[in-house]
Amino acid sequence: EGIRKAMPLLDQALTAPIKGYAWLPDLRRRTHGRPVPIRLLGLPAVALGGPAAAQFFYEKGNFERHGAIPGPVLDTLFGRGAVHTLDGQAHEARKALFVALLMQDGVDILAKMVGEAFDEAADGWRGGPPVSLFDATAEVIATTVARWVGVPENESDRIAQARDMIAMVDGSVALGPRHARARLARRRQERRLAELIEAVRREEPLPSALSAIAHHTADGCLLDARTAAVELLNIIRPATAVTWFVAFAAHALERWPGNRARLTDDDFALAFVHELRRFYPFVPFLAARAARDLHIQRVDIRRGALTLLDVYGQHHDARVWPEPYEFRPERFLRRQIGEFELIPQGGGDPRTGHRCPGENITVALLGELVQRLGRLEYYLPAQDLSIDLGRVPARVRSGPLIVVG
Ligand code: HEM
Repeated sequence: EGIRKAMPLLDQALTAPIKGYAWLPDLRRRTHGRPVPIRLLGLPAVALGGPAAAQFFYEKGNFERHGAIPGPVLDTLFGRGAVHTLDGQAHEARKALFVALLMQDGVDILAKMVGEAFDEAADGWRGGPPVSLFDATAEVIATTVARWVGVPENESDRIAQARDMIAMVDGSVALGPRHARARLARRRQERRLAELIEAVRREEPLPSALSAIAHHTADGCLLDARTAAVELLNIIRPATAVTWFVAFAAHALERWPGNRARLTDDDFALAFVHELRRFYPFVPFLAARAARDLHIQRVDIRRGALTLLDVYGQHHDARVWPEPYEFRPERFLRRQIGEFELIPQGGGDPRTGHRCPGENITVALLGELVQRLGRLEYYLPAQDLSIDLGRVPARVRSGPLIVVG
């Protein structure tokens, strides 16, 4: 409550409704999916969803991101000055750096490295006590991605580093101790990586993401070391967040075990990955501000008004996905996915707009890991597998815990 009182109105307006995944879909259902004018603590805002609305949300010139992300989210999830908050040319220049690092040849190498690290870790679980798949996967991914970007390894830091990456995601829109942990994690990691950036700048450039970010220039200027650290974290942290979907994969395999045998087929595994990203709750919605007066489906959006794209609601809308509450990977077999249909990582073209540049990495890592999970001999001991849709980000309550034979 103390944190809440100290926050500016916009921050409160944006974090107040983050009570869960059902809030926006409930509002939109009342207007049969059309955009809904709403007020967030007295400020005018609009909620929208569906592929046409998503296209409108990403149309060049319609929306801006600065001032749309609340301070508490910047201080935990993204970092101050992150690419997520930039618009126009500044965004283009920074985004090109991410596209070059994340959308080229290195993706398959990283996926292979993560797969091997998972196998190695799984060898250690055999015949042992129950393991939290969530915690163990986070450590595997955080360690491997840090190595892939060129951060020197410190064995004693492995678990702490993974915990910090998870804490930043887990506590970004929470209040109380979860949020405090997220802030602390960010402060610690930004400090550590800013020092590393300074050190790397004294050396010759190397072919690594760390070196590329350290030596990146826009308008002839280097990023300040703190911002460079923020952007390095904007690779390591979200890659570690793929852990959420690995835990959801184990949940799906428990509830719909018929999928397991089919995961050996690469096409099916890819469809399974897409269905995980559609079905399970992760990003609830995206926020932006109208860059000019806009009009969509009989609703006016005044310049500056907050606009929320209902990601979770779009993924569970029967008009877009027949029988949306059925987990059916088959829906993605032999089918092209439209740029604005499946939007767990945003919509449109990642090269020009804000869509996630890490989507190829996400899909590649998940492809490797769900196939391994499919082959792993394990069982789930009695535990609470529930997923609370009032908690953002949602998690399988128990981890889940697995016992590997
Ligand atoms: C942006 C989701 C994995 C790096 C985004 C956005 C979403 C998202 C929703 C914002 C789109 C928008 O604002 O329009 C996810 C999810 C992931 C994931 C659900 C998997 C769990 C990754 C990975 C990386 C990454 C693996 C890097 C290795 C980024 C960056 C941006 C971004 C740098 C900012 C792009 C921009 O503002 O132009 N992501 N992401 N993400 N993501 Fe991801």
